[in-house]
Amino acid sequence: MLEFDYRNVKAEILGDENGLNIETEFNNYNEKIAKIINDLNSRKDKPGQWLQWMNLGYNEETVWLVKEYAAMINGRFDNVLVLGIGGSALGGSAVCEALLKPYWNLLTLEQRNNLPRIFFLDNIDPDQINGLLDILDLKKTLVNVITKSGSTAETMSQFMIIKKRLEDELGDNYRRNIVATTDQNVGVLRQISNEEGYKTFVVPDDVGGRFSVFSAVGLLPFALVGINIEELMQGVKDMDLALKNTNIWHNIAAQNALIHYLMDTQKGKNLTVMMPYSNRLKYISDWFVQLWAESLGKEQDNYGNKVNIGPTPIKALGATDQHSQIQLYNEGPNNKLINFIRVKEFDTTLEIPQIFEFTGVGYLGGNTINSLINSEADATKVALVDYQRPNVTITIDKVNPYNIGQLLYMLEVQTAIAGELYNINTFNQPGVEQAKNYTYALMGRAGYEESAADLKQKMSY
Ligand code: PA5
Repeated sequence: MLEFDYRNVKAEILGDENGLNIETEFNNYNEKIAKIINDLNSRKDKPGQWLQWMNLGYNEETVWLVKEYAAMINGRFDNVLVLGIGGSALGGSAVCEALLKPYWNLLTLEQRNNLPRIFFLDNIDPDQINGLLDILDLKKTLVNVITKSGSTAETMSQFMIIKKRLEDELGDNYRRNIVATTDQNVGVLRQISNEEGYKTFVVPDDVGGRFSVFSAVGLLPFALVGINIEELMQGVKDMDLALKNTNIWHNIAAQNALIHYLMDTQKGKNLTVMMPYSNRLKYISDWFVQLWAESLGKEQDNYGNKVNIGPTPIKALGATDQHSQIQLYNEGPNNKLINFIRVKEFDTTLEIPQIFEFTGVGYLGGNTINSLINSEADATKVALVDYQRPNVTITIDKVNPYNIGQLLYMLEVQTAIAGELYNINTFNQPGVEQAKNYTYALMGRAGYEESAADLKQKMSY
């Protein structure tokens, strides 16, 4: 299992102003946490609760279906191009970055075991899209368009551009290069897919985008590039089992949720920094930032009171950001709770040769880069404590599918528990919808005429 170390949030270590009396708090909240965990588990199968993500680990059918499809098309494509945004892209790119060999897309076909390269297009910068289209041979590219709603402007505009090009290049056969992941029944993409006869996979009901990485949204791209999705899902299931424990002393997701909640509401630490000490985990921070921000940043609580709450997530990367952000974290406002992710054992070892022996860098020789990165993580933690800055550490043994499944699922459950502590709706995103609707209005979508008039007036101020 993952290890979770919360020593550096304790009042004994940080003092009363910045630290928590963990023993008292855990005991005080134990009953409430148990109620939250029982409640989440008892509501998860009810329609409309948006908790189906808690069942995804057990969805063997999807695992089987995506593997069957991946096997069927094996060898036909040089590239997979994923079109999606937000929850339809962040989990996919985070897991691929973590689990594929570094610089995957630059490896030869042989080095990639005959598996395709993978690209995530999650923005609508014309230069970026044109740049990618310049280097991709679309004839040899499988396009996986992912949108739960089926109508997100960014994703669908990308798809319209690429579909037209595929048609121009491949004639009637273009359909073979498209696979859509969307709602089972509703939405424009579902309608287009049915009419055009695309191969499709389903984003299950009651799974929000940011909680969808273990559905076909993530599993299909992972299977296409050879990631071991059974191991990934085993990690999810084992973590799910562990997090059913209602005793906070034995539930790491509940512990970290409560620590964040109390640090925010009692100690003024309303910024959450996610800082893995592993380049391969770099995009896990991007995924977490969306999960934490969209889930917990809310205007109203569950009683309809205006609360405007939510900790602000920040992404950082060790050791790189020691030379960028750590100055602020040590000496700037003491308003952050830093989450380190540590990797015990890297896949490879890299020795630093003993050259320049009698110089100021001589001490590095004979050491490994592995020990350097982990020493830097330790040193940063201790320095933060010297400045009374709270921090927690999640440690994984190795970066592998099983541990990544555990890590991501733990952070999902942590987010859901934190949402209950804040007493808000973790699973909606009215603040995102608002801007989406304004975009539709600006771009002339039918049915948004009233918003368009309202917007025009507001933009003329
Ligand atoms: O988490 C969410 O719900 C959002 O980030 C969505 O994933 C994002 O807006 C994309 O939506 P869709 O998948 O409908 O295109």
